[in-house]
Amino acid sequence: MSFKRNILCIGAGYVGGPTMAMIAHKCPQYKVTVVDINPDRIAAWNSDDLPIYEPGLTEIVQSARGRNLFFSTNIEAGIRESEIIFVSVNTPTKTFGAGAGMASDLQYWEKTARQIRQNACSDKIIVEKSTLPVKTAQAMKRILTCKGDDIRFHVLSNPEFLAEGTAIRDLEDPDRVLIGSNETPEGMKARETLVEIYANWVSREKILTSNIWSSELSKLVANAFLAQRISSINAISALCEKTDAEVSEVARAVGMDSRVGNRFLNASVGFGGSCFKKDILNLVYLCRRYDLKEVADYWEGVVKINEYQKERFVLNMLNAMFNSLANKRICLFGFAFKADTGDTRESPAIFVSRQLIEERAKLVITDPKALENAAFDLKDVVEWITFEEDPYRAAMECDAIAVMTEWNLYKDLDYEKVFHSMNKPAFLFDGRNILDHKALFQIGFNVFPIGKPPLTHF
Ligand SMILES: NC(=O)c1ccc[n+]([C@@H]2O[C@H](COP(=O)([O-])OP(=O)(O)OC[C@H]3O[C@@H](n4cnc5c(N)ncnc54)[C@H](O)[C@@H]3O)[C@@H](O)[C@H]2O)c1
Repeated sequence: MSFKRNILCIGAGYVGGPTMAMIAHKCPQYKVTVVDINPDRIAAWNSDDLPIYEPGLTEIVQSARGRNLFFSTNIEAGIRESEIIFVSVNTPTKTFGAGAGMASDLQYWEKTARQIRQNACSDKIIVEKSTLPVKTAQAMKRILTCKGDDIRFHVLSNPEFLAEGTAIRDLEDPDRVLIGSNETPEGMKARETLVEIYANWVSREKILTSNIWSSELSKLVANAFLAQRISSINAISALCEKTDAEVSEVARAVGMDSRVGNRFLNASVGFGGSCFKKDILNLVYLCRRYDLKEVADYWEGVVKINEYQKERFVLNMLNAMFNSLANKRICLFGFAFKADTGDTRESPAIFVSRQLIEERAKLVITDPKALENAAFDLKDVVEWITFEEDPYRAAMECDAIAVMTEWNLYKDLDYEKVFHSMNKPAFLFDGRNILDHKALFQIGFNVFPIGKPPLTHF
């Protein structure tokens, strides 16, 4: 069968896999190939046990795999065959040298650019899907064109706004798709090619185009704004705990102002995920590089409040449990950084676990999708931990439960049963404010929500 276009995506991760599966699902006229250097990941994409958990993903992959969606490790062949190449490799925070702890580590991304240049034998449109610092497209163009032959490369920026846990819904019906390009006739033509792909299922009004630098910057700013809302309400939760105000009541009153809006105003133990912290620090680094100290400090505050919130959570546990956690059994309800994903990258549960182990507590960790990742994240302290999929068994003979992830399943448990199986006094620290605190208190728990007065029997 001949396809209208050959599309390649380099990087088969949380972004590359689902985004390409959606394009293939919606556009049977295109051949979509996803490649990765990690053969295990590719094997998993080709199996019934996909490498990531995302509601609805399996169905989308199964609808297209083998028809017009392919997963492969043959990166060179993919580059040669394709006219459009999405780059969706990881761009973590640099851990060494200049900008360590802040700037993006662009080594994977640069390696990809060089590989494209080496293997390309016809003109290509390169689409930045990874989140990158402003002006990366320029560097990419320079690497691609340094060979001096007459192959032409057009670099576009098309940042991904999907959220894990709702990736399929976000891809199917996005708030917007953003495409940045050079504003030259050739750049506009390349941009139109990408617009046409999305227009197969996204209405044209939702497909925004901009200059390439605005597009790169918009992704960092979007994540910074989202994280800022979480840190704002979390900062207020600390004040609520001192003043007997209730953070959910404050959030409701503030959020009903249509200028503010009510979403993303849930106080919690803090945000996690692979992107928020990394992207804000990247923004901070850029500001410092351009000598904008005040702007950098402002955004860095968002990350500092998040660290503070996690520390506060553990200190509250310690204070509540008579300043000693040694040999107490503490059960973590959830380990994923949010519900409906198995992803644990930067999950607050990692920090909380490590702090509790420092206090010599014994942990029981339960999560419906993230236990394998949790065991990997905590492999150096694993002798302090039991992993248990069943939440009832996990809570048995524990002194406390700490809710780390807002999985729906924790809302519907039989807490009478849980309470009776625990050591007394039984504590419950709700790091996501998802449970019915009054009901838990009536059962006998000592309940410590975020940003609300505790309910204790002492
Ligand atoms: N995870 C999210 O929710 C999300 C959302 C929006 C944007 N992003 C951005 O998308 C990018 C990818 O994120 P992710 O979460 O999918 O990362 P990921 O780590 O899940 O996936 C990246 C993949 O790229 C592969 N890779 C690295 N170098 C390669 C190379 N040279 N050739 C081929 N494959 C290579 C890795 O093996 C890995 O499988 C990042 O820049 C991230 O900031 C992520």
